[in-house]
Amino acid sequence: MARILITSAIPYINGIKHLGNLIGSQLPADLYARYQRGRGNEVMFLCATDEHGTPAELAAAKAGKPVAEYCAEMYAVQADIAQRFGLSFDHFGRSSSDQNKRLTQHFAGKLDEAGLIREVTEKQVYSNADGRFLPDRYIEGTCPNCGYERARGDQCENCTKQLDPTDLIEPRSAISGSTDLEVRETKHLYLRQSAMKDQLDAWIDSKTDWPILTTSIAKKWLHDGDGLQDRGITRDLDWGVPVKKGDLDWPGMEGKVFYVWFDAPIEYIACAKEWADATGKPDAEWERWWRTDKGADDVRYVQFMGKDNVPFHTLSFPATILGSGEPWKMVDHLKSFNYLNYDGGQFSTSQGRGVFMDQALEILPADYWRWWLLSHAPESSDSEFTWENFQQSVNKDLADVLGNFVSRITKFCRSKFGEAVPEGGTLGERENALIDEITRRVRAYEGHMEAMEVRKSAQELRAIWVAGNEYLQAAAPWSTFKENPEQAAAQVRMGLNLIRLYAVLSAPFIPDTSARMLSAMNTLDTNWPDDVAAALGALPPGHAFTVPDVLFAKITDEQREEWQEKFSGIRT
Ligand code: MF3
Ligand code: ZN
Repeated sequence: MARILITSAIPYINGIKHLGNLIGSQLPADLYARYQRGRGNEVMFLCATDEHGTPAELAAAKAGKPVAEYCAEMYAVQADIAQRFGLSFDHFGRSSSDQNKRLTQHFAGKLDEAGLIREVTEKQVYSNADGRFLPDRYIEGTCPNCGYERARGDQCENCTKQLDPTDLIEPRSAISGSTDLEVRETKHLYLRQSAMKDQLDAWIDSKTDWPILTTSIAKKWLHDGDGLQDRGITRDLDWGVPVKKGDLDWPGMEGKVFYVWFDAPIEYIACAKEWADATGKPDAEWERWWRTDKGADDVRYVQFMGKDNVPFHTLSFPATILGSGEPWKMVDHLKSFNYLNYDGGQFSTSQGRGVFMDQALEILPADYWRWWLLSHAPESSDSEFTWENFQQSVNKDLADVLGNFVSRITKFCRSKFGEAVPEGGTLGERENALIDEITRRVRAYEGHMEAMEVRKSAQELRAIWVAGNEYLQAAAPWSTFKENPEQAAAQVRMGLNLIRLYAVLSAPFIPDTSARMLSAMNTLDTNWPDDVAAALGALPPGHAFTVPDVLFAKITDEQREEWQEKFSGIRT
């Protein structure tokens, strides 16, 4: 039994995620986790909310709530939606947890001991009225380029010019509006990534099975221009992990927190400790996933993320881990995604454009979305959600191919043989040809799933469903029955066993429907079909079943138009 550690990029806390976010990491990670569990492997699948930093502070301010309270509420909302989408995390943690706070401080202490942290004195805007330093985007003023009066210290929204806060005319605090600002000196910590360049380079070179897209992004950051830059890992904010060296105070760093991108990936590890703590397990239980000196040397670690996250996972986080000099498990395989667009434009959280996870579930069950999103995953290029395409996939793949197959065979059996697997008859040439085809396709499906080729996996699964339909069409037990009821019984038996087989194979994609199919087939046998012929005899003659309700309802043209209209605007 293999042991597989899976993490999905941890979603920002500020707001409900849209379908583009979902297919960019959490959903394919779930597909892989469910598949590996289905194969009998031991899986640890972790995700969490990314709670620190300016975006969380701003969102909380907008909601008129203290940031800790806002995060606790949004965490509950995201956890609930994740569960309703069938995301089967072993633990869904929070980067603001005590476990992550301690571990982040621990890493900083280790990096400092290794001489990999340097203190840098910088000039930064301080607001006397607010009693704090202001991050660039917390300073507003008039744009020197276009005269827009609400330009931010990092960029003018109106003319898009990149700005420094000191460029602004009549700068003021975005928090209080105060103009009582001054430039003060302040100290920050930098992680000396430049000193780890060769080590990172060698580590990336050792990843010969990584996609070119991934290694080329990493190599670009390592070698372009002046090469890998040292990275500021502290910020002047209230909300975050307080800067400490392990348990010790860090002189000169009072009131500062670590930069969100420093503590967020560390949450991948801390999340495992949250899991152990929450379930009353000793530390050894999570450490066997993460410490190579405590059993994690035989773990295969796979990360899922959107393409914009690749540099952080190939360079910054590895720099933290390698620099600590401690035996932490490092990523073995990294699966990254392009973007999903929405109906001729981009999904956008800030603009409220597209379909958000909660809205999706209000109109259709999770499996409809899971199937469309996974079968159209933006792997080799960006992909696009359109309502027409969604309607077509659901109606064809789910309703016509899979749903119809299940309905036809169970209803026919009930009408002619009753609600139990019929006995009699033997398998003939047609059945053997079907078994051969399905065997070939199941092996291909396994190969694609292992390789995390999401679209190819979906195509193969669909082909397996189609094979059953074609078999049923050709065998036509409703005609056979008239001359040869015994043979019709064997055909129906094959059909009912295909339903169980499909439930097992399809579970990673459409877990709820799979569970309904198994329950209709009245079986708990979810064994993976290593031997397809044997698997197609799992339900023996006499085994009782029930006819399930319609598995998938077709999307009507009226519904499609209604939803298209409903989601054409922006969410407020
Ligand atoms: N919150 C980030 C995003 O949504 C991802 C953080 S991934 C981690 O883009 F590695 F930092 F955890
Ligand atoms: Zn401007």
